[in-house]
Amino acid sequence: MKICCLGAGYVGGPTMAMIAAKCPDIKVTVADPNATRIAEWNSEELPVYEPGLYEIVREARGRNLFFSTDLDAAIREAEIIFVSVGTPTKKQGIGAGRAADLRYVESAARRIAAVAEGPKIIVEKSTIPVKTAEAIITILHANSKSGQFQVLSNPEFLAEGTAIEDLLAPDRVLIGGEETDGGKEAVERLVSIYARWIPRERILTTNLWSSELSKLVANAFLAQRISSINTISALCEATGADVDEVGNAIGKDSRIGPKFLKASVGFGGSCFQKDILNLAYLCQHFGLPEVSAYWESVVKINDWQKRRFAGRIVQELFNTVTGKRIAILGFAFKKDTNDTRETAAIAVCQDLLAEGAEVVVYDPKVREIDIRQDVLGNAVNDNLKVAGSAAEAAAGAHAIAVLTEWDEFKSIPYAEIYENMPKPAFIFDGRNILPHAELRKIGFRVYPIGKASRILRRRSDVE
Ligand code: UDX
Ligand code: UDX
Repeated sequence: MKICCLGAGYVGGPTMAMIAAKCPDIKVTVADPNATRIAEWNSEELPVYEPGLYEIVREARGRNLFFSTDLDAAIREAEIIFVSVGTPTKKQGIGAGRAADLRYVESAARRIAAVAEGPKIIVEKSTIPVKTAEAIITILHANSKSGQFQVLSNPEFLAEGTAIEDLLAPDRVLIGGEETDGGKEAVERLVSIYARWIPRERILTTNLWSSELSKLVANAFLAQRISSINTISALCEATGADVDEVGNAIGKDSRIGPKFLKASVGFGGSCFQKDILNLAYLCQHFGLPEVSAYWESVVKINDWQKRRFAGRIVQELFNTVTGKRIAILGFAFKKDTNDTRETAAIAVCQDLLAEGAEVVVYDPKVREIDIRQDVLGNAVNDNLKVAGSAAEAAAGAHAIAVLTEWDEFKSIPYAEIYENMPKPAFIFDGRNILPHAELRKIGFRVYPIGKASRILRRRSDVE
């Protein structure tokens, strides 16, 4: 059996590597027109950083896992074609800023129609608006000679940084197909691949539309929890409640559950914002403006939380950061990834630069050119600097702000760092990972998310 995947990104690469590792008898080709990316996948320096990914790629690469720029050859020989190309938010035209830009999905469908000779199963892996399968089916049938296509929806639920674990033991695999004999047969073929390592009861099959919509809704619900706890973090800072204690207390209720209740400087990543805006746009399209506004508010609160964090830094540094050095520890949208898409660090750095601060960023995995591009675009600003270590970033800084929860930030020598900072020295912990009591003992003024900066005992302390 031969399968292929169009799109060698954060989703396509790891997913195909796992299938190849688990099914040595299936030839898996990942095809992408971006020659640099493909060369990186074929090298020792993979374009995606994920714990455990390199080991899996090394095991299967050249045996039954191949990375190639030859899309046509990959399409021609594969029975099952996964489509995992990007679906960014539209930048212009109808739905700009909210709707998904489906041009890459469409061009993948047109390519498949033009090249395919025999029957094919097309699997949507990219997250797309509901009813995209219909468009793909129409394009395929209108443009192909052979005409035997089945389109399935198989959304990916892996989270970056834990992609390998998530692929190895997912909570569920979701496969949607047409409710026809051909559709059911195609669903079963895909089920049989996942069933090699995933218990059958975790593989859910639904109709196409339920599958497409479930992906958007899962991400919207997850993001909503973070925005909800982030609103409470502001209330905690004002009242003396502690957001970790509140999160722990409510999370013990089995109806609420403990996960995704960590207050933060704001969620990032390629999916949450894009998918919620996409969901909101769909609601609008189907004549449901109230529902649309409801979900959009999850994104608005997230923007507010990022700006609130930067604002707190300015306020606590005596209402001015002009000419002050501020160390930013962590730039990726979460730990254990080099992905910076929609990371809260972008807004925080931009706000601080706008206030005239000298912003010095350190991240263990993100490259300097990506940091510059994300914060400045093509503009030049000498006030943005990138350091090679946390200590280097912090030397001479008035404040340290932790924006990503990298483990190494928990154990850097803060006492030494304190010596090299002007006083009072500030720490803003946007992830609540640092030992706050110890830092206070050293002399730092510590500002966690969702916790008062000092102990508020009496009502008069609050006011
Ligand atoms: C993508 C989608 O953006 C997301 O909606 C979905 O949930 C999973 O797939 P990701 O893998 O993180 O996410 O995107 P990215 O890392 O940008 O990879 C997309 C790849 O597709 C790139 O390597 C790009 O070169 C490739 N691509 C793009 C094609 O192969 N063909 C195209 O026409 C356009
Ligand atoms: C998410 C979904 O989890 C995954 O199922 C989907 O397929 C793609 O989108 P991902 O974006 O990789 O995955 O990361 P995730 O772990 O969900 O984190 C998203 C953002 O939320 C990060 O910035 C993270 O730091 C933040 N977050 C997460 C919080 O601020 N608090 C939390 O409690 C959890």
